Amino acid sequence: MSEITDRLEILEQQSSSLEPSNLQRSLWMGKVQEYADQFIDGIENRPAFKNEYDTENLFSNDSFDTAISIDEAVSLIKSEVDQYGLNPASGGHVGYIPGGGIFPTAMGDFIAAVNNRYAGIFFGSPGAVRMENALIQWMNEIIGFPKDAHGNLCSGGSIANLIAITTARDKKNIKSADVDRSVVYLTQQTHHCVQKAIRIAGLRECIHRYIPMDAEFKMDAVYLRKQIEQDIKSGLKPFIIVGSAGTTDTGSIDPLEDIAELAKLYDVWFHVDAAYGGFFILVDDLKSKFKGIEKADSVAIDPHKGLFLSYGLGVILIKDVKAMFESHFYKAAYMQDAQGRFDELSPADLSPELTKHYRGMRLWLSLKLLSLAPFKAALEEKHLLAKYFYQEIQKLGFEVGPEPELSVLIYRYVKTDEDVNEFNKHLMKEIHNDGRVFLSSTSLNGDEWIRAAILSFRTHKSTMDTSLTMIKDCVERTKKHFEAIS
Ligand SMILES: Cc1ncc(COP(=O)(O)O)c(C=O)c1O
Repeated sequence: MSEITDRLEILEQQSSSLEPSNLQRSLWMGKVQEYADQFIDGIENRPAFKNEYDTENLFSNDSFDTAISIDEAVSLIKSEVDQYGLNPASGGHVGYIPGGGIFPTAMGDFIAAVNNRYAGIFFGSPGAVRMENALIQWMNEIIGFPKDAHGNLCSGGSIANLIAITTARDKKNIKSADVDRSVVYLTQQTHHCVQKAIRIAGLRECIHRYIPMDAEFKMDAVYLRKQIEQDIKSGLKPFIIVGSAGTTDTGSIDPLEDIAELAKLYDVWFHVDAAYGGFFILVDDLKSKFKGIEKADSVAIDPHKGLFLSYGLGVILIKDVKAMFESHFYKAAYMQDAQGRFDELSPADLSPELTKHYRGMRLWLSLKLLSLAPFKAALEEKHLLAKYFYQEIQKLGFEVGPEPELSVLIYRYVKTDEDVNEFNKHLMKEIHNDGRVFLSSTSLNGDEWIRAAILSFRTHKSTMDTSLTMIKDCVERTKKHFEAIS
């Protein structure tokens, strides 16, 4: 026995640094605060993208055998992480779907990490779960879902879409024998995480109907109706329509009202991926564009996109909470004390996760400290910046796609004798090498387009003016490149 107690004494002593003293915590926090201040205050002076790195050296020979000081750790973060690639916290991130990083996200995560409340089951932390559920109700209200709808705070849009598709699969009773005659309706503009979710949910062999789109990249609802009718006639099982409220490529919103009508008529689950675009519904002038979203069965909407939070918070909202529960609830003997109290629904019963990050805190704290008004203003600003850029880029000799519905637009340089696609591909390379502003490209119907996706809370008119100057410079460099090789 004394052997055990002696060893315990040693182990307690050896592991004591896991509980740093108050003094140690202050020292570390001071350095972390200093790093955060330097990072944020210097963000305007750094490139949005640095297209060079030496993968051999990034964290090579990293070892955890000996502890290092906070100064050394911060210095490694600065040299190995912060220098290269994309800086998603920068206002100059105008590619893909930009990241956020409003400061209360960090504070909320800090608090959630310190108190480490278990927000998975009501029994474990009634306050934390109620906070998350209240946020879900708030978002349900925003999109016009009824009070008895529910949802889940998850890691991002991909998992939000997965939860919806899994729930739809079970609600529509798609068993393995039905998969190859069940039909999914979507467009070529549906985000790829939806196809991924379909696969993960065991529905890979479903029939995928890619519905044609109009000139604004919106699903053709007339074609959709004909396709569903034809599928029913052929003995197939229309199962889910996935509409988008803000596509990644062009920010287009599908005709939600028309699709909702068809979904109701033919008893098909209607899911809307509003991961990027959903929060634009808060802007008075844009609200009507979302008409029909309230008739969907489920909606994915991402605070780490449209509410400018740091990465790590997507949301799925689902009307039929019973269906959501039946797809995700599980009983286990070791959970018996926690189960049986259903005065409040628990996140663990509505998602694949059991132990989870207490994600609600970051959103709750942000909204409480700042109120909704600045978020609405920033969203309207992003929309207007897209409209401004749409006008200005045409003055530089660029052809444009549809007028930006939300805050994404596409354009390509056409005043050239070179092959337009080759010219724009090279132009994109020049833009990446420049790095003042990060833009990304896409291909649509075989044509190369450059995108501007404006969603960072740090992107303002000055950023878009810098983009225009940068693009102008890069066009000149691209022309020189082609002259040199001709
Ligand atoms: C429309 C849309 N849906 C889904 C996703 C996937 O979201 P996440 O990257 O948070 O998983 C994205 C990502 O950009 C998106 O733009």
